[in-house]
Amino acid sequence: MTTKRMLVTAALPYANGHIHLGHLVEYIQTDIFVRFQKLRGRRCIYICADDTHGTAIMIRARQEGRPETELIADMQAAHQRDFAGFDIAFDHYGSTNAPENYELCKEIWAKLRHQGLIREADVEQLFDPVAGTFLADRFVKGTCPVCKSPGEYGDNCSKCGATYSPSDLIDPVSTLSGATPEKRSAQHLFVQLEMLHPFLDTWTQSGNHLQDEVANYLKGHFLGKPLRDWDVSRPEPYFGFAIPDSPGNYWYVWFDAPVGYIASTHQWCKLHSERLDDWWRNPETEIHHFIGKDIAYFHTLFWPGVLHASGFSLPTFVHIHGFLTVDREKMSKSKGTQVSAAKYLEHLDPSYLRYYYASKLGPRLDDIDLNLAEFAAKIDSDLVGKVVNLASRTARFVESLGLAQEYPHDGGLFAAGAAAGSKIAEAYEQVDYARAMRLIMELADAANAYVENTAPWTLKKDPNQQVRLQEVCSVVLNLFRQLCVYLAPVLPRLADGCGRLLQSEIRSWQDSQTPLVGTSVSKFEHLMQRVDPGKVQQMIEESKDQTPVTVPNATVPASVAVAETTPAPDEPLQLEPLAPTCTIDDFAKVDLRVARVIKAEEVPEAKKLVKLTVSLGGDVTRTVFAGIKAAYTLQQLEGRLVVIVANLQPRQMKFGLSEGMVTAAGPGGTEVFLLGVDSGAKPGQRVH
Ligand code: 2FM
Ligand code: ZN
Repeated sequence: MTTKRMLVTAALPYANGHIHLGHLVEYIQTDIFVRFQKLRGRRCIYICADDTHGTAIMIRARQEGRPETELIADMQAAHQRDFAGFDIAFDHYGSTNAPENYELCKEIWAKLRHQGLIREADVEQLFDPVAGTFLADRFVKGTCPVCKSPGEYGDNCSKCGATYSPSDLIDPVSTLSGATPEKRSAQHLFVQLEMLHPFLDTWTQSGNHLQDEVANYLKGHFLGKPLRDWDVSRPEPYFGFAIPDSPGNYWYVWFDAPVGYIASTHQWCKLHSERLDDWWRNPETEIHHFIGKDIAYFHTLFWPGVLHASGFSLPTFVHIHGFLTVDREKMSKSKGTQVSAAKYLEHLDPSYLRYYYASKLGPRLDDIDLNLAEFAAKIDSDLVGKVVNLASRTARFVESLGLAQEYPHDGGLFAAGAAAGSKIAEAYEQVDYARAMRLIMELADAANAYVENTAPWTLKKDPNQQVRLQEVCSVVLNLFRQLCVYLAPVLPRLADGCGRLLQSEIRSWQDSQTPLVGTSVSKFEHLMQRVDPGKVQQMIEESKDQTPVTVPNATVPASVAVAETTPAPDEPLQLEPLAPTCTIDDFAKVDLRVARVIKAEEVPEAKKLVKLTVSLGGDVTRTVFAGIKAAYTLQQLEGRLVVIVANLQPRQMKFGLSEGMVTAAGPGGTEVFLLGVDSGAKPGQRVH
């Protein structure tokens, strides 16, 4: 067994959203890898952090009316809580907004400068004249300049994979304000990646660091031509690190994000009296990155290039996985299949998902499908039916006796299971967990056949068979324990439960090689329940955008209601095609009025609603319930002008009478945008 250090990372989750089942594929995949390595006795650390910088955070903080640092602290706490709930055990969880990260960015930057890799150039960038900011790539959408696919983001095309800058998009639109962006010129800094081309050819094509399909993809799509310079700066305003030798410019979030891998390791080193160089500048240390295929380009070209140029170790391997689909479709908010980690944990055991993902994850980049019917069936049949059942059918019979003093004859079952350990370990090592799970379930089948043949419940009834009963139960419980050792990277809770039951903690892979003899057996405690399909259904229901479900009579902005019941395609017009033509008289029937919000109140029982009291001038007021709670704070609402549908028939709701509707656009949730009125308008004025 090698004693080389091993550093393992999962991608740093972005701080502007909560963790959902799609993200968990990677964090669980990586956690299994790390737990496996540790169980094998390897010196291994699991490092992660929140990725906190960029325009998205800046804009969101602005919308929420609070500093970015407060927003990212809240989000980090939520992320860490979710990960812990799924037994994802990081050795350190940092933040890219940390002094260690700034120091490392400066150090790396100086090296890049020193090697002449940085060039400066004026760049025309898109500027949102309404939001008053340059637009990050993800805040511009338009038609791909290469394949002409509509609705693509400003950095790369999801259809043809082309990378470009947002100003290359055809018909660009700001996703912040909907305005057509203007081109403005500003100075930017670039890493001249082409200078690293020979190195990247060698590194990516060595056959050692990437899955073959990834290496071939890079060769076919990028390495056959000059590599584009990488724009690593953004002009202010920007939430990030200021570039020390370029006033008014900040490092683009994708520059400092991967440096966060090193910075978070540095924090861990400080806490454990370790030297950073032993982990990041030592050829003896293995570095493994786990990422999704959407960020392959950054991790297989930019990042190795930056590490190489700045004298840090290169990753030993970048493991890339596919996306999660649910019932073969993209996760969807309207169908309730974009389930947050927190929502899952309200209803279901995290071990179910860990096992299910493990049974699906192979070493390739294929997408993995969460089939909800299969999910329940697999857990019930494999974990409850084949594994836990071994203990639940035998442990009670030997609670007072303990295990036999000598391991009984079992027809070679335990030895065969021990011998299978090397194949199972090899499958884990190759990140082929699906194969590992199949091999383990084959052993479980053999153990169950033994239980059926020896029928301990029959032996129990015969006073002359009590020695035989103890022997049989000792065999079955040892086979159960062997399975628990092999499953421990995936199911740490089950392994702990087994340790308590047989009064011998599972600490090492080697525990699978020797049976326990003569030890006591604890009172049987519940180890895992069958999946309750009702809870799966409830979880899905509660993950649907809920206003129409929980508040059937709610008067919400029409655009919000539509978005909540329709799968969310990318383009607003696709989402809601234009309505049939109406006459001016039809339009005149809708009495739209300027109104001022004079009071905004919580509706504690409603997840999405706020109660607004609006003034139409004089002493005419209206009460309106609006589904905008996630998008606005009460303070942001009080005092502002809105446009309301003033002649909408009042509706009695659970929470009171709603006497109109506030107009807004956007898909719902945090993305609801109230229609504003320019200053000068007076409450009560009609909108024509
Ligand atoms: O794609 C993402 O969500 C990024 N936040 C991942 C960053 S990984 C690393 F580079 F920091
Ligand atoms: Zn394209």
